[in-house]
This record gives sequence, C-alpha cells and structure tokens, in this order.
Amino acid sequence: MIKVFGISTSPRIAATAWIINEALRYLEKEYNAETRFFSVYGKKINFCIHCNNCIKKGGCIFNDAMKDVYSGFEWADAVLIGTPVYQGTLSGQAKVIFDRMRAFVAKNPHSLNGKLGAAIADGGDRIGGQEIALRSIIDFYMINEMIPISGGSFGANLGATIWSKDKGSDGAKEDKEGLKSLYKTLDRLVDVWKNLYT
Ligand SMILES: Cc1cc2nc3c(=O)[nH]c(=O)nc-3n(C[C@H](O)[C@H](O)[C@H](O)COP(=O)(O)O)c2cc1C
Repeated sequence: MIKVFGISTSPRIAATAWIINEALRYLEKEYNAETRFFSVYGKKINFCIHCNNCIKKGGCIFNDAMKDVYSGFEWADAVLIGTPVYQGTLSGQAKVIFDRMRAFVAKNPHSLNGKLGAAIADGGDRIGGQEIALRSIIDFYMINEMIPISGGSFGANLGATIWSKDKGSDGAKEDKEGLKSLYKTLDRLVDVWKNLYT
C-alpha cells in the first residue's frame, strides 16, 4: 500500500498539524495507507549555509532534526507538505526544509524522481496567500523531480486550501469547504499512485 509522509511546517501544534494528521488518518482509513508524521514544532533545524559540503564531500554538516525528514522522504511513495500562510506565502520553516533537502539530492539528483507530492496551505484569511504558498511547495516538488498532484478543478485546483480564521485546529475543523479540497486532493494522490505504480 501507498506510504505517505506528512510534514507540518508550522512552529506550533495547531491548524497545520491537525490538518496533516487528519489527512494521514483519512488515507489510513480509506486506502489502508502506511503513514508517518513529522512536525517542525520544538525541533532544531539549521538554515542551509551554502558551505557545499553536501556537494563536495557528501552529507550535511548539521546533525539536526532534518535526519527525520530525510528518512521520511527516503521511505515515502508520496509526501504531503502543509504550511501556514506567512506574509502571503509559505512559512520560513518550510523554506528551510526545502533548502536543506539540497543535501539529500546532492547524493543522487534523481533520488526523489517519481515520488508524488501534494500541498496543503492554511491561512487566517480566506484568501490570504494559500495558492501562492501551494505554488512554492509545487515548485519544490518539480525542481526535485517529484510529481506534483492536486485535487483537480472544481475545488482543489492546486491542492488543499484551508481557512483557519486564526483559530488553530478549531478553525480548520470548521472549514468544511477547505476540508473537501483536502480529501479531493488525497483521493487523486492515491488514484495517480495506483495508476502509475500498481
Ligand atoms: C508571521 C505570521 C504571518 C502570517 N501571515 C498570514 C498571511 O499572510 N495570510 C493569512 O491568511 N494568514 C497569515 N497568518 C495566519 C496563519 O497563517 C494562520 O493562523 C494559520 O492557520 C496558522 O497555522 P497553525 O495554526 O498551524 O500555526 C500569519 C501568521 C503569522 C504568525
């Protein structure tokens, strides 16, 4: 069955972490998926400092929580990245993870080739930059040879967009339209994976 790695890039356990856990629970229940969850909450993750150790010698000079992210990417058939919208785009934490993934692909530029990726963004405003955040996650997937997946037209054009109203997980739970975009995206993720790999 499909193995899905869900990442919450919010520095707290609130809306984004709840949404990712809800997504993983849905995939387990509907599709018998195997899942892993990672949150940046409470974790030490250094910025990439462009020392090029990963290119020249292999491996990152930092030994921090990215090791759990690397092992999750290695293990997964599909990755779900969720971000709160910060200043109209993804969180700084999400961007740091993307930059640090350079060390992962430095070993083998094709190491993520063919893995599926879906994107989730939640904002305090109904239209607060969710789609711009989704596009940045999708760009990361494309740059790293992954296959970006959305839920398609009529509801989940670029992925899942949620309006938390700045009320954390309570707000996310209340956004029924947003949750529809999540389930639609997850259904398509599994459908594409089945078509390609089973
Ligand atoms: C630094 C910062 C910037 C934010 N900028 C935006 C924004 O541009 N647009 C928006 O809709 N919400 C913005 N928000 C609100 C969060 O995106 C929203 O509350 C989100 O659901 C928080 O996710 P969390 O509960 O997982 O931390 C911002 C919050 C913070 C802390």
